[in-house]
Amino acid sequence: MNDLRTRYMGLQLRNPLVASAGPLSQTLDGIKSLAGGGVGAIVMYSLFEEQIRHEAARETEMMDRSAESFAEALSYFPTEPSNESGLVHSYLQLIEKAAPVIDVPLIASLNGSAKGEWSGMARRMVDAGASGIELNVYYLPEDLQVSGREVEQRYVDIVADVKQKVSVPVAVKLSPFFSSFGEMARRLDEAGADALVLFNRFLQPDIDLDQLQVISGFDLSNPDEAKLPRSWISALYRRVSASLAASTGVETTQDVVKYLLAGADVVMTTAALVRNGSSYAGQLVDGVTSWLNRRQLTLNQARGMLAVPAGADADEYARSGYVSGLERAKKTYAK
Ligand SMILES: Cc1cc2nc3c(=O)[nH]c(=O)nc-3n(C[C@H](O)[C@H](O)[C@H](O)COP(=O)(O)O)c2cc1C
Repeated sequence: MNDLRTRYMGLQLRNPLVASAGPLSQTLDGIKSLAGGGVGAIVMYSLFEEQIRHEAARETEMMDRSAESFAEALSYFPTEPSNESGLVHSYLQLIEKAAPVIDVPLIASLNGSAKGEWSGMARRMVDAGASGIELNVYYLPEDLQVSGREVEQRYVDIVADVKQKVSVPVAVKLSPFFSSFGEMARRLDEAGADALVLFNRFLQPDIDLDQLQVISGFDLSNPDEAKLPRSWISALYRRVSASLAASTGVETTQDVVKYLLAGADVVMTTAALVRNGSSYAGQLVDGVTSWLNRRQLTLNQARGMLAVPAGADADEYARSGYVSGLERAKKTYAK
């Protein structure tokens, strides 16, 4: 039996398969069945900056209105600021209920795009029982005046801000769309990110030609999409001190193993669990054990086995891979 225990951003996990933020963690039963299904940790669905700001504004408005009507209707005055029915309250309550009844770490997810008061929610998530925070920085700079450096700085500022507010580990989930992703990863590492989650999937709207409408759907990923995150994980392996989490494109055990060979500390999945149910996690984990046993490898021996070799010039390595790949493709597809 192979020992799959894994350290991820300072947390001890029973195995390296993690349920990424997604629809299955929206209820207590959902979280329990993810844990029961065999994952090593669970990232909850995200609470959005906009939701937090909206509810804070509503609270202030309620307080103001109540204060104005103080003389006329004392009984309407709320005893304390409250959004009992709000999304924030439900989220915190779900952490409070779920964290003590599962046997794996529960990581809360905050999704935002600019530094602000909303990041204080991280503290409340930890107080409710979250073992860590995953920050999903989702920012599409459509303002044509915003420079690349400003975009990068936002990420660094958000991470530094949240790190200051909590003492639990903080992961940052980000997109690959930076001019120099490696430098971005290094800056986030230096800003204190305990893990980098590669990658976020962006909403890419389609167009319905019959209805003449833009459709903002969100398809489930396919294993081909794992190639980009896998390349970056392999390039960053042992070059940053933050843990590396692979996210996107896991469907089978082979997909999990490939990410581990590239150097991922943990491998996350939403699509595979949505398609096959929470208990599929157990099958993926057993599959990893069988694969390691067949190859007579421990998890630690396998992890990073096919990463960009230490000491290699990463740029040259990528460039020579590109040139030889293109040469092979030209032979394959030559008519
Ligand atoms: C229905 C659905 C809901 C999701 N909700 C969130 C979310 O709340 N926060 C987040 O960071 N990612 C969210 N994701 C993205 C996943 O965490 C993950 O990054 C993405 O699906 C790629 O991984 P996969 O190929 O394993 O599905 C969601 C994905 C799906 C399919």
